[in-house]
Amino acid sequence: MNLALKEKLEAYRARVESGIDQLLPHAKTRPARLHTAMRYSMEAGGKRIRPSLLFAAYDLFPSEADPIAAAVAIECLHTYTLIHDDLPSIDDSKLRRGRPSCHAQFDEATAVLAGDALLTYSFQLLAREYSDHPTLATYLIAELAEASGSERLIGGQQEDIENEAKPLEAATLRFIHENKTAALLTAALKMGLAFSQPSETQIQHMQDAGYHLGLSFQIVDDILDATSDSETMGKPVGNDAAAAKSTYVALHGIEGAQDEAKRHTEAALIALESLGGKNQILLELVRELETRIN
Ligand code: IPE
Ligand code: IPE
Ligand code: MG
Ligand code: MG
Ligand code: MG
Repeated sequence: MNLALKEKLEAYRARVESGIDQLLPHAKTRPARLHTAMRYSMEAGGKRIRPSLLFAAYDLFPSEADPIAAAVAIECLHTYTLIHDDLPSIDDSKLRRGRPSCHAQFDEATAVLAGDALLTYSFQLLAREYSDHPTLATYLIAELAEASGSERLIGGQQEDIENEAKPLEAATLRFIHENKTAALLTAALKMGLAFSQPSETQIQHMQDAGYHLGLSFQIVDDILDATSDSETMGKPVGNDAAAAKSTYVALHGIEGAQDEAKRHTEAALIALESLGGKNQILLELVRELETRIN
């Protein structure tokens, strides 16, 4: 990774992590076990890709309102999906972000509730922190709600589970990836762009970029599940094959999956180039995500 990108990503990380610390209820807030669990999962680290994409999209065009609350909100929403994804009834995963997953550290009931609370809190934050910018607030809330609802992210999670151990079909796999992963990554980009009052054409370019970036991101996640180790990943590996999940690796093999990831990354870059603006960091980040190691 080049130095300018590394420094920028570190700055984005520091910014969102200080936002998390400031904006989340204190761990001692009653009920303390619930708030401790919420902070435990939020403070565990992770790559902070969605806040970084949101900041990089925000940085394309000059604007005034502070994107920090939106970045924290999308990370709250993402973290809730991970807490629930790890539950025994879903992926039954005991390690996340290099630590015991939320239900392993606390208990299943607390993990379900911490996830519920983070989901709700993401919208509470947007409504509260952008009340001086009602049009922006409405857009951000609608975008995040749509991306994470039953027809998108949760729908993708449902079909991911329903299709375990079933014969693989490319169209089903596409549906799963488009929704369980690409929807929220697209929302991160569109939410960042929204601060600059973009045109419909600009929004469409961002939508296209998010779609391709999202597919590439999940394909790489599937490749790493098959090829990396749990220390590097901070989560168990080999889970997808063990659960006979519908993945690109299962369908196309490692090399086929790598080719697909490359193709989608290129398409994302083309869409971002059409969008213009100060896009160097965003272009580099998208390239970097394809060759990431965790
Ligand atoms: C994991 O997301 C879930 C997928 C959509 C593949 P990330 O790989 O962004 O997880 P963290 O936030 O870095 O832990
Ligand atoms: C999960 O996909 C996507 C969401 C959490 C919505 P995975 O099940 O592949 O994510 P990991 O590999 O556990 O992070
Ligand atoms: Mg899963
Ligand atoms: Mg999982
Ligand atoms: Mg995975």
